[in-house]
Amino acid sequence: MKFGYFDDSRKEYVINTPRTPYPWINYLGNQGFFSLISNTAGGYSFYMDARLRRITRYRYNNVPLDMGGRYFYINDNGTIWNPGWSPVKTDLDEYECRHGMGYTIIKGKKNGLKAEVTFFVPQNYDGEVQQVVLTNDSAEAKEFSFFSIAEWCLWDAQDDCTNFQRNFSTGRVEIEGSTIYHVTEYRDRRNHYAFYTVNDEIDGYDTDRDAFLGSIYNGWDNPETVKAGKASDSFADGWSPVASHYKKITLAPGESKTLIFILGYAENPQDKKFAAEKPEGLLTREKWVLNKEKAYAMIDKYNTPEKVAAGLAELKDTWDKLLSIFKVDTPDDKVNRMVNIWNQYQCMVTFNLSRSASYFESGIGRGMGFRDSNQDILGFVHQIPERARERLIDIASTQLSDGGCYHQYQPLTKKGNADIGGDFSDDPLWMILSVAAYIKETGDWSILDANVPFDDDPEGKHTMLEHLDVSFYHIVNNLGPHGLPLAMRADWNDCINLSCFSDTPGESFQTYTNPKFKAEGGYSKIAESVFVAALFTYTGPAYVGILEHLGKADEAAKAQAEIDKMKKNTMESAFDGDWFLRAYDANGEKMGSKECEEGKIFIEPQGFAVMSEIGKEEGADIKTLNAIDKYLNCEYGLVLNNPAFTKYYIQYGEISTYPGGYKENAGIFTHNNAWIICAEAYAGRGEKAFEYYSKIAPAFTEETSDIHKTEPYVYGQMIGGKDAKNFGQGKNSWLTGTAAWNMVAISQYILGVKPEFDGLRVDPSIPAAWDGFTATRQFRGDTYEITIKNPDHVNKGVKKLTVDGVDVEGCIVPVAGDGNTHKVEVLLG
Ligand code: GLC
Ligand code: GLC
Repeated sequence: MKFGYFDDSRKEYVINTPRTPYPWINYLGNQGFFSLISNTAGGYSFYMDARLRRITRYRYNNVPLDMGGRYFYINDNGTIWNPGWSPVKTDLDEYECRHGMGYTIIKGKKNGLKAEVTFFVPQNYDGEVQQVVLTNDSAEAKEFSFFSIAEWCLWDAQDDCTNFQRNFSTGRVEIEGSTIYHVTEYRDRRNHYAFYTVNDEIDGYDTDRDAFLGSIYNGWDNPETVKAGKASDSFADGWSPVASHYKKITLAPGESKTLIFILGYAENPQDKKFAAEKPEGLLTREKWVLNKEKAYAMIDKYNTPEKVAAGLAELKDTWDKLLSIFKVDTPDDKVNRMVNIWNQYQCMVTFNLSRSASYFESGIGRGMGFRDSNQDILGFVHQIPERARERLIDIASTQLSDGGCYHQYQPLTKKGNADIGGDFSDDPLWMILSVAAYIKETGDWSILDANVPFDDDPEGKHTMLEHLDVSFYHIVNNLGPHGLPLAMRADWNDCINLSCFSDTPGESFQTYTNPKFKAEGGYSKIAESVFVAALFTYTGPAYVGILEHLGKADEAAKAQAEIDKMKKNTMESAFDGDWFLRAYDANGEKMGSKECEEGKIFIEPQGFAVMSEIGKEEGADIKTLNAIDKYLNCEYGLVLNNPAFTKYYIQYGEISTYPGGYKENAGIFTHNNAWIICAEAYAGRGEKAFEYYSKIAPAFTEETSDIHKTEPYVYGQMIGGKDAKNFGQGKNSWLTGTAAWNMVAISQYILGVKPEFDGLRVDPSIPAAWDGFTATRQFRGDTYEITIKNPDHVNKGVKKLTVDGVDVEGCIVPVAGDGNTHKVEVLLG
């Protein structure tokens, strides 16, 4: 069952009922100011940091689920409705929501009155513009009342939803004309404020939530002022400040009226915080007055429909350009819409927000993840490499000089998060992968010389290359009894906690370490991760390649020897006959082995082991891939492990706390499905690669949206696995490494267009039925028009490759570097 459709020409998903199986959201903004917006206009806004600088309030885990947003209310002669249906939920005569690239358009119609609201955050602008067009489609004149509402959050979202004893008394506003200012805590230690304005005279306002609602017993679905058809002109003093505009509107038949609302954020320099005088008509309860210069300038920027149209055009143009860097035309429309539009769009969102704020991530739990952000870069780097470079330097600066890493950092402070700490065994390796991806994309080797401090030596002069050195050797220097990397607190799988042994409720599996390991430095020196071993052998060659390029032959050889040794150790101690083990636990027992009662096979190490060709000469790669197909493959994707754990294994930790089929316990964790897609493609099995790709790619789940539940245009982290009651049901949509890795899987492995240090590799691994496809790739200043022909209907194998008609040996297109367009023709066979 579908709840809408893709409008590819406009790069939009069109939702045609407000009753989607879950709120289907979009993101507005991509630098400083961000908003989440659902198909019924629920959601919230923040500046930079969803925890520390929250602008509007949102209640997670609410009933109903998606309550609180920026809402418009219409009272048309007693019929009260919202353009986005919610919160009043009056049945609409027409409803539509279009989520596009950085904007959302919601249209509602009731009794001949039409309301179309366009929401977007313009480029380089710290505010959400909301253009409302009201049209009287009926034959009679209409007179109705119109209201806006946004509820302010008192900045720190964590504090806002816990510290009521203080917060119920601190809320403060100023009102000037049609603009309501949120100046809570501005008098003392804050120099930022927010405002909500409309480009027209208003007939009233409300700034106190309870006054707007009319009673503390009312909800957003039942505001008294709206019912009364008139605002109460309340002035907030503590409690919950809101911003609501009220206007009486009369429209002749056929007549339209446009109102432009702006929800903005601004910061003042310390010495310019206050205005010298109190202007006439300003409403405040304070002696001081906010300096509003910045707000005035922002309001002036988008106060007419023409200016709004220009801002929207600029936004669309930005996205058209971003999406023209890599474009494909394959025989499969769903692949095209994923690659050309939605997967790339999601990669931008994950790059911006890591795992901080979605409808599953509350924005207060996690900042930017070290491993997460590094992986996000893999899917984003071609879009805006300069931002990726900046991010790489920020992330690397939270690393410690021994190669260890803070697991997370806050985007506002860029400081490692001490509450979480470090010692996640995989973290350093992702940094090698992402820096290599950046160099492969741009050819900008200078990043290696960039001055990047260590967290424990902030003043020291260190280079990015040193960060890669310590990352690589952090693995080498921390091996266990089988010569495999120590698992530490966790590796990529946050829920395999081999040093935890937790038996007390409330202990965090990720940060709690059993005291018995204190003496050993905080984690078991026995537990080893086969996943990190495989990731090391997959990532290591990029590091070697970098050293070779720099002419450091000895260091390159030394690193290569470590990679070879790791492969040998893995084959000797971690190949279980048909697949690779997952780990050795702290008791030295095998995890993910045929010998285990449950959790005999795990997905994570397999793909990287196959792509590192560990044991290839003995057929380990094909055996492993076949085992995955046999034990992990099911209707909706590949489950993480099998059989699912049905009891608590204290030696494994969090993974065995989930009911079978969910999350890391045998859920379909789409992130690591991508690694198998890559591995299948790498091994030349284009059919399998595509089968796995199409099981999880959102556009392919659209038809079963009633089962899948979450948005059919973006990946979620997880789909209920075969052991789950809700088999096939998606969760944790939007913020997941799945976006980047599936972008890599489809573009670099299946379609096979892959940046390398010395050029652009073109080596597809596709379904045999395809006659071929075309792709456009902008790469290091040139444009490559690529045509793949597959007359023999093979999966993989470049028989002939020409660039501008000239034969090239192998499958790497050398960098032309002349700024021109080049024709690449590839014949498979
Ligand atoms: C979540 C985390 C990611 C982790 C994964 C597996 O997606 O964001 O860091 O690797 O879960 O536990
Ligand atoms: C839980 C989740 C995991 C996530 C982690 C983040 O362990 O299961 O997916 O990475 O929390 O803190």
